[in-house]
Amino acid sequence: MILKTYVMIKPDAVARGLVGTIVARVEAVGLTLDRLELGMVTPEQAAANYVEHVGKPFYEGLVSYITSGPVVKMQISGEEAVPVMRKLMGATNPKDAAPGTIRGDFGLSLDANIIHGSDSPESAERELSIFFG
Ligand code: RTP
Ligand code: MG
Repeated sequence: MILKTYVMIKPDAVARGLVGTIVARVEAVGLTLDRLELGMVTPEQAAANYVEHVGKPFYEGLVSYITSGPVVKMQISGEEAVPVMRKLMGATNPKDAAPGTIRGDFGLSLDANIIHGSDSPESAERELSIFFG
């Protein structure tokens, strides 16, 4: 099924100059870039995006990190775009992510794990409306 997903290149990856490399990997698997925008995440957008993590020990750090510098916000579409993107990203913790995945190849820590991608078509709809209205 053709799906849409929300993908975000996190502040550490933008600062390290990895945007072109990451976008090239997305294009290489045949996914389509519908929208791409460089900018900051507002505290309100961060809170809405990470609502499932409110109250967890890492929540405050997660929000302050994602609002700490420019990110690249993307709408990506294609055949099974949600799971395909998650596979391309690799496991949440870079030390568990396979070589050849974005987090496996570039991630430095659980916090600085390079990229966000929606975890279901329902999350994608919600996140696309948070970031693109
Ligand atoms: P994301 O939402 O960023 O795409 O990552 P994910 O689905 O693979 O992981 P999720 O469980 O949604 O966690 C969101 C982000 O929170 C940080 N995290 N820290 N210290 C911890 O135990 C912990 N667990 C998660 C990660 O940076 C993760 O990307
Ligand atoms: Mg998540």
